[in-house]
Amino acid sequence: MKAIVYTQYGSPDVLRLEEVAKPTPKPDQVLVKVHATSINAADSLFLKGESAMVRLMAGGLNRPKQTILGSDVAGIVESVGAAVTQFKPGDAVLGDLSNAGFGGLAEYVAMPETYLTLKPDAVRFEDAAAIPLAGVTALQGVRDKGQVQAGQQVLIYGASGGVGVYLVQIAKAYGAVVTAVCSTGKVEMVRGLGADHVIDYTKEDFLQSGQQYDVILAANGYRPITDYQRALKPGGTYVMVGGKMTQIFQAMLLGPFLSMTGNKKMTNLMAKSNAQDLAVLADMLATGKLKPIIDQCYPLSQAADAFRYLVQGHARGKVVIQVAA
Ligand SMILES: NC(=O)c1ccc[n+]([C@@H]2O[C@H](COP(=O)([O-])OP(=O)(O)OC[C@H]3O[C@@H](n4cnc5c(N)ncnc54)[C@H](OP(=O)(O)O)[C@@H]3O)[C@@H](O)[C@H]2O)c1
Repeated sequence: MKAIVYTQYGSPDVLRLEEVAKPTPKPDQVLVKVHATSINAADSLFLKGESAMVRLMAGGLNRPKQTILGSDVAGIVESVGAAVTQFKPGDAVLGDLSNAGFGGLAEYVAMPETYLTLKPDAVRFEDAAAIPLAGVTALQGVRDKGQVQAGQQVLIYGASGGVGVYLVQIAKAYGAVVTAVCSTGKVEMVRGLGADHVIDYTKEDFLQSGQQYDVILAANGYRPITDYQRALKPGGTYVMVGGKMTQIFQAMLLGPFLSMTGNKKMTNLMAKSNAQDLAVLADMLATGKLKPIIDQCYPLSQAADAFRYLVQGHARGKVVIQVAA
């Protein structure tokens, strides 16, 4: 089968379209013929392998052990292992390999059934592939970490990227009054997703108005943790979803201290993929409560270009890769 392979850390230039062995599913695995996949910040991180910590997560200090990236897949079940109970050949599915060794940038992938759900018939493979990791992250951010309730004031910082576009829609589905932060060119798109208020970060600082929020979800939130703390109502919750290493360390090290010493909860999210949450998202897709947002779509042979676009950090929703016609 054809796959996008990398055998050394580096820029998208190290990605190669190669012929590799088609995987054989283990007893608990499903073999999926991949129709479409989408790429995420996690793929870029493992591609670059800039720190020892990331390299260990990718399985190798000197070179990656998992040589095929790609966590999001939408496709058709080709065959199933003997212990698989939920799926059969011919089922159209979507899945998330972020906790299962990646491998979606290929014509076939073998994966546990616990990271798959059925794709709604009316949803295109490209649209389904735009959901899994970013959608699960957004769902767990809004529902579990943020515990967003109807009527609450929710700020979403970095609302226009892969995760942000789903944070806005899911927070709205939970009945929140959403204020979204993005740049000028994306204001109308984010408003179209249902945001009640939009702050253009190139023109206005979100702290300027003095508005306070019940929940702040920061997807691309390149601000000090204390800025978010200031913008929270007493009893409010900040969830660091993504950003640079500074935001991650501040949320992990300073967050527990600030939460203990103040009356605001400063926390972070580590999304955990699972079939139940994928099924919730598939249902939201089928009923129109969640709209896939796709910026660019590339053929598998141009996956390196897709990464070049994503790593610029300004994608408008998701970057999708078509694997099968
Ligand atoms: N916690 C978890 O489990 C988890 C899971 C998945 C992803 N993540 C993390 O979540 C983060 C976001 O992922 P993503 O897929 O949304 O990334 P992405 O698609 O690459 O994000 C691109 C978006 O970021 C916006 N952006 C860039 N600089 C910004 C700034 N200074 N202020 C506000 N927005 C800015 C861009 O908008 P403009 O062009 O308008 O600036 C663009 O729309 C990443 O750090 C990723 O690692 C975490």
